[in-house]
Amino acid sequence: MASETFDQETRLPPKPKFEAPAERMAAGGELMALRGVTRHFRTRRHDTLAIDRISLSVNEGEFVCIVGPSGCGKSTLLNIVAGLDHPTGGEALFDGRLIDRPGRERIVVFQEPALYPWLNVRANVELGLKIAGIGRSERKRLADRYISLVNLRRFEKAYIHELSGGMKQRAQLARALAVEPRMLLMDEPFAALDAQTRDVLQQELQEITSRLKTTVIFVTHNVREAVILADRVVVMTPAPGKLKTEIAIPLPRPRGPDSHAVVDLAARVRTELQHDIYAAQSAEDSYAI
Ligand SMILES: Nc1ncnc2c1ncn2[C@@H]1O[C@H](COP(=O)(O)OP(=O)(O)OP(=O)(O)O)[C@@H](O)[C@H]1O
Ligand SMILES: [Mg+2]
Repeated sequence: MASETFDQETRLPPKPKFEAPAERMAAGGELMALRGVTRHFRTRRHDTLAIDRISLSVNEGEFVCIVGPSGCGKSTLLNIVAGLDHPTGGEALFDGRLIDRPGRERIVVFQEPALYPWLNVRANVELGLKIAGIGRSERKRLADRYISLVNLRRFEKAYIHELSGGMKQRAQLARALAVEPRMLLMDEPFAALDAQTRDVLQQELQEITSRLKTTVIFVTHNVREAVILADRVVVMTPAPGKLKTEIAIPLPRPRGPDSHAVVDLAARVRTELQHDIYAAQSAEDSYAI
């Protein structure tokens, strides 16, 4: 029976040994779509066109990484998909409906873990479920499952200040996954971690999202991280952010940071990025003159 092969603790299918990204992409139709999305910020001091007519479609089960120079509007784009911000032009759709507010089906994971210090790991993970009105036994089942999945079982009673940076990110991920969102929105979640912890979490995230078939939009400055994680890397231009190009990453998983194919594709993404960063720099220099 198929269920006999499920993990006893998490009730998830066994770890995949190999997964072709093409199969993963074929898993579902369009889940999220931005159609000509523009976001203009007008404050007393500044008038900023943060993103300019961005059109992007993400399929169910797809892992999309967004890279781009600082200030090009990556967080703005993510906030719009999260429903925390709204376009001033164009439209953002989730499952065919206009995104007008945050929702449980779209959960954000930030660079700084937004965890409650007066609650332990388990209570933090269960909180979102409690707010969603989920009963005690189901809360326990979901918390057990996702705390195990992020390898925090031994620390579930620990308070946040007792955790390392990597553990805090694991706790934040467990809390996000526990509400079983249809899409995870991750804004540089590993940027504050040391290189080794980052490597470990990249591998874990690859494994978890492959097993759960979670749809992810992941923002990073780290090009190699993008290539390790993504089915598709989207490169943005310097501000005002537009989509510059998309690069498919047709590599089998798991992907190690030092594999030749990863290094080669990362070099390609970096070339796309650097071209624009230097162009932006020389434009700034010419203003300075
Ligand atoms: N609430 C806001 N009010 C005014 N301007 C804003 C606001 N949020 C973002 N901006 C502006 O929009 C532009 C894009 O910002 P955003 O934070 O999306 O960039 P980013 O690509 O995430 O940058 P980084 O890589 O540094 O995180 C910036 O010029 C920023 O100053
Ligand atoms: Mg940002």
